[in-house]
Amino acid sequence: MKPKCAIRFILNNQEVTAWESPGRLVLDYLRDSARLTGTKEGCKEGDCGACTVLLGSLKDGTVSYAPMTSCLIPMGELTGKHLVTIEGLNQDTLSPVQAAMVDCGGTQCGYCTPGFVVAMTGWLMDPKRPISSVGVRESISGNLCRCTGYRSIKEAGDQVVEKLAAQLNGDDRIQLLCVLGALPDYFETIPERLAKIESIAEPDSSSFKERPVVIGGGTDLYVQRGEEIPYQQVHLLNNIETVAPVVEENGHTIVDSRMSFQAFGDDPLIIKAIPDIQVYNELIASWPIRTRATIGGNICNASPIADMTCLLLAMNTELHLEGGDELRSIPLKDFFLGYKQLAKTEDEIIEKISFFTPGEKSLINWEKVSKRSVLDIATVNSAARFEAENGFIEQAYLVLGGVAPIPLYLKEASSFISKQALTNELAMEAIDIAQTEFEPISDVRGSADYKRLLARQLLLAHFIKCFPEIISEEVIYASL
Ligand SMILES: Cc1cc2nc3c(=O)[nH]c(=O)nc-3n(C[C@H](O)[C@H](O)[C@H](O)COP(=O)(O)OP(=O)(O)OC[C@H]3O[C@@H](n4cnc5c(N)ncnc54)[C@H](O)[C@@H]3O)c2cc1C
Ligand code: FES
Ligand code: FES
Repeated sequence: MKPKCAIRFILNNQEVTAWESPGRLVLDYLRDSARLTGTKEGCKEGDCGACTVLLGSLKDGTVSYAPMTSCLIPMGELTGKHLVTIEGLNQDTLSPVQAAMVDCGGTQCGYCTPGFVVAMTGWLMDPKRPISSVGVRESISGNLCRCTGYRSIKEAGDQVVEKLAAQLNGDDRIQLLCVLGALPDYFETIPERLAKIESIAEPDSSSFKERPVVIGGGTDLYVQRGEEIPYQQVHLLNNIETVAPVVEENGHTIVDSRMSFQAFGDDPLIIKAIPDIQVYNELIASWPIRTRATIGGNICNASPIADMTCLLLAMNTELHLEGGDELRSIPLKDFFLGYKQLAKTEDEIIEKISFFTPGEKSLINWEKVSKRSVLDIATVNSAARFEAENGFIEQAYLVLGGVAPIPLYLKEASSFISKQALTNELAMEAIDIAQTEFEPISDVRGSADYKRLLARQLLLAHFIKCFPEIISEEVIYASL
């Protein structure tokens, strides 16, 4: 059965009501139904960025836009939103981004070009993103090009920065971009028009005959089951209500599990709790994937190398689940029973996660080794949180990913190093104990021996980075 419902949204400059299956992919709708073929289909797995669009959401009278790969967005999520494709950025003359791509020879066969232009334009529109060469390069972290070798595209980015940076100095970037000819004028009318769109919810899930597929950001599900989900009933978590902001209550930081990686990393309370979160985020997926991938999805996806899960394990995170017989909480470290086996029923949804808000004594570090520095999954990842004062570790939480069937909380090593005054020898002993807690397998990402070596180096990195005044790299390396 293919359940359909009316989905109302604005597509570029036009109000649309689409009678569609909520699980259908936006990419398929754009190319096959709306005949907007500027949005290209490449990998259909979120990897190449050829299908990048912008999705604008109205909140408190302002529309915020995020780049997303349309091959991973379910139609049902468009309700009440502004969907922008490359056609919606076109004007009578080239925009500064389009002109820069032409001037710098940033396009050859042209297949990837719409994705690059949309991603760069999306970066300019977001007041949280710096208008700098480094920034614009980050904007295209999710775009692949087979022809140009990237140099000319990076130069196009530099040209855009040179032309626009000085003028994009206010918070209302969209208005400024319209004035500068980087966006068509109709963008200024969108907040008012979106406010008038009657939001139509997804079909009432209580009427479903089958158990609906629970979709967070869909960045895992659509890669695994992209052909079947459009024909199934779906429960879109992102469509129920707006995601709640992070709050701090009674010494705990509480996070809505539907929060995207990007929103998590941008949140001031998370930056306060995990000061390097934005640095970590840049090593996870790509910008258009981070705007979709959710915290809850990363945990329930249960990949042994799930990056956020690794970090959250070290934060000693608690999960709060609803949908079973009762609301209940469970420590994240007890949630993984075996490879992709979770301590929850099929009906249970992670509603929130929480962890003790780090204080002055908290030291946190996260590490990842992958073949490419961006847009790649980890071979091994690792995280640590120490509660320590003057070199005395009151409590340690050490975690490794990629060495076991589950993201692994290192119970023995964490307990060994807790309630101890740290020394070089003690750190090495803890790392040796950690090695007894897992049995890695050889696979495409690396041999078992290589993973053991990475595990040791990454755990060592936590001690070196968190306790530079105690741990001496020279002494450690001399002892190896
Ligand atoms: C190009 C690309 C790059 C990627 N790079 C990385 C990377 O670097 N690091 C990394 O860790 N991952 C990466 N991923 C994997 C993926 O993005 C993450 O695992 C992401 O967090 C999944 O979240 P989601 O919300 O999209 O999950 P979904 O695909 O929506 O769901 C995944 C599973 O979780 C369930 N689920 C979702 N939310 C909940 C909830 N609140 N309660 C209960 N069940 C729920 C779903 O039913 C499904 O079984 C990448 C994916 C892609 C496509
Ligand atoms: S088609 Fe490659 S990211 Fe969507
Ligand atoms: S110009 Fe051909 S793929 Fe980029």
